[in-house]
Amino acid sequence: MADKTPYQVGFANHFATQAIPNTLPYGQNSPQQVPHGLYAEQLSGSAFTAPRKHNQRSWLYRIQPSVVQGDFSIFTQHEMILNSERPTPVPPNQMRWDPLPLPGKKTDFIQGLIPFVRNGNAKNLSGSLVYLYACNQDMEDCYFYNSDGEMLIVLQQGRLRFVTEFGIIEAEPSEIVIIPRGIKFTVELLEDSARGYVCENYGATLALPDLGPIGANGLANPRDFQYPTAWFEDREGDFSLLCKFQDHMWQAPIHHSPLDVVAWHGNYAPYKYDLRLFNTINTVSFDHPDPSIFTVLTSQTNTPGVANLDFVIFPSRWMVAENTFRPPYYHRNFMNEYMGSIYGAYDAKGNGFQPGGSSLHNCMHAHGPDAEAFNNASNVELKPEYYVDTLAFMFESCFVWEPTRFALETPLRQTDYLACWQKLPRHFKGCP
Ligand SMILES: [Fe+2]
Repeated sequence: MADKTPYQVGFANHFATQAIPNTLPYGQNSPQQVPHGLYAEQLSGSAFTAPRKHNQRSWLYRIQPSVVQGDFSIFTQHEMILNSERPTPVPPNQMRWDPLPLPGKKTDFIQGLIPFVRNGNAKNLSGSLVYLYACNQDMEDCYFYNSDGEMLIVLQQGRLRFVTEFGIIEAEPSEIVIIPRGIKFTVELLEDSARGYVCENYGATLALPDLGPIGANGLANPRDFQYPTAWFEDREGDFSLLCKFQDHMWQAPIHHSPLDVVAWHGNYAPYKYDLRLFNTINTVSFDHPDPSIFTVLTSQTNTPGVANLDFVIFPSRWMVAENTFRPPYYHRNFMNEYMGSIYGAYDAKGNGFQPGGSSLHNCMHAHGPDAEAFNNASNVELKPEYYVDTLAFMFESCFVWEPTRFALETPLRQTDYLACWQKLPRHFKGCP
């Protein structure tokens, strides 16, 4: 069967792709004259001197170099920046939210981003910012790049088309899309509306976790990551170039499409991954491995094993553990957990954690199954069971997630969240 997709596969491979034959220079990056009268431009995603396994760059062969643009002016009223204030002190409370409603007015993907929780900034290359998004309109004659961080987009509802400098990525709920720092793109809707989550990562570039004793295979396999093939548009007109830089939105006029890369090669490019392809590893005897066993991608700090950001999923899977309380146990953690739900029911919670909703449990603050889930799991006959049609995820970080004013004050916040644990009965009967 013919390959139906235009994608190239592998994780951060050194790809080479061209939309017009005989464009890529042979054996060098920047010849005196690039074929077809194109300009050569390097995009570095790491310091030049980063160790080879962390070094990322691509060479782009384009109609106009990126310097051909107007001056930026500040765009103070952009939705992506508004509402990002984080009141202090940060409340230690466990929090949970209902899903973000779809917008009532015309809203594109970038306008639809609402800052929600945050634990770092671009100034010190550390932490992340989580947005919710809801949109119902294409970005028209408007292009965007993010100087502050790479964007991990978790689609929850509605298919999207990301038209980037490197080619086109179409994605649907259950897939994630990663747009590395600095890459220009525009977003079109493939349905009437769309909703999901975005994590803007300021720390180390997301990478596959090491597998240790698991071995060479398992979790997210490198061959399942899909990168676009070269695609370009040769279009002139009056367009807008948006840029997020140092926590502000900037806007510049541009009179040609910046998506004019005819060919590229390198290992720094946008990609997508289908979470349904995740090879879930779990116990086949008793007890729980820690949820780190479900890590798809990780951004590490300089401290070994301590993540700036782990992207972890809880997919459909078999549960076979013997003599084990199967939902997540009660716990208080060093790490800070922001969770979202893509579809289905999460095994430790009743109806309160809905697809499109989210929860927050920061460092050392207790959480675990609600009273009903505890009662069921403590008494159910333990047979092998398939958790079907469920997909939740977690952005886990060593840094405390600070909710924005929007997150704290929105009516979407479930102010009675703690009630789900308060009916846990006392079973202790005292000393015999
Ligand atoms: Fe947790």
